[in-house]
Amino acid sequence: MDVYEAVDSRRAVRAFSDKAVPHETLERVLGAAARAPSSGNLQPWRVYVVTGEPLVELKRRATARAFAGDPGDEREYPMYPAELTSPYLDRFGAAAAQRYAALGIERDDPERPKKIAALNSDAFGAPVVLFCYLDQAMGPGQWADAGMYLQTVMLLLRAEGLHTCPQVMWTMYRKTVSQIVGAEEGEQLLCGVSIGFEDEEVPPLRTERAAMAETVTFVGA
Ligand SMILES: Cc1cc2nc3c(=O)[nH]c(=O)nc-3n(C[C@H](O)[C@H](O)[C@H](O)COP(=O)(O)O)c2cc1C
Repeated sequence: MDVYEAVDSRRAVRAFSDKAVPHETLERVLGAAARAPSSGNLQPWRVYVVTGEPLVELKRRATARAFAGDPGDEREYPMYPAELTSPYLDRFGAAAAQRYAALGIERDDPERPKKIAALNSDAFGAPVVLFCYLDQAMGPGQWADAGMYLQTVMLLLRAEGLHTCPQVMWTMYRKTVSQIVGAEEGEQLLCGVSIGFEDEEVPPLRTERAAMAETVTFVGA
C-alpha cells in the first residue's frame, strides 16, 4: 500500500470485528512508527497497548460508568475550545450528524448520549486499544509531536490491513484507564486509539473535508 492509499483509506472506524491482531504486527508497526519526527527528538509520547483480559476489564469498568450516566473524570485538557465558532462549529456539526446516524443512533433519541458513551467505552468492539500519554511537563509543541506520532501509527496499521479510531472520549474515564495500564504519576492521557480489523457488515462512513482553499494558502506560487 502506498502512502496516498494509506492516507485516503484511513478513517475513524466505529465497528470492529473480534478477529485478533497478531502481537508481531503491533511490534512491527510501533517499531517503525518510532521514526516519527519530534521537535528536538524528545519523542515525548508514552504508549500503553492494552489487549486481552486487561482490555476486557477496562471496557467493563468504562461501560458501567457510561451506563450509570457518569459525567467522567475532571478533564486535564478541554476537548474543544469553550467557544467553537464558524467555520469549526459548522464542520463539527456536519461530522457529528453523520457519525452516529451511521451506527443507527438518531439525533432525537433521549438515550443518545449514553449510547454514544457506551459504544466508545467498548472501543467499538476493537480487540486492541493504544493509549498515548505525555509527561505533564510537556507543552503544545510536544502534544503536536504526539499527534504526528499517532498518525504515523495509524497509517502503518493501514499498511497491515488494520483500521483505527482515535478516541478522546477515553479521557472522560482517564482514572479507570490509568488504573488498568498502570500509568505513572504525572503522565497525562492524550487519547486512546482503537485498533482492529473492520467489521465489514457495517457500511463505511467517509466524512467530507473542507475545500483546500479554506485551509491552504500558497504564497509565491
Ligand atoms: C484526537 C482525536 C480524538 C477523537 N476522538 C473521537 C472519539 O472520542 N470518538 C469518536 O467516535 N471519534 C473520535 N475521533 C474521530 C473523529 O471524529 C474523526 O477523525 C473525524 O470526524 C474525521 O473523520 P475520519 O477520521 O473518519 O476521516 C477523534 C479523532 C481525533 C484525531
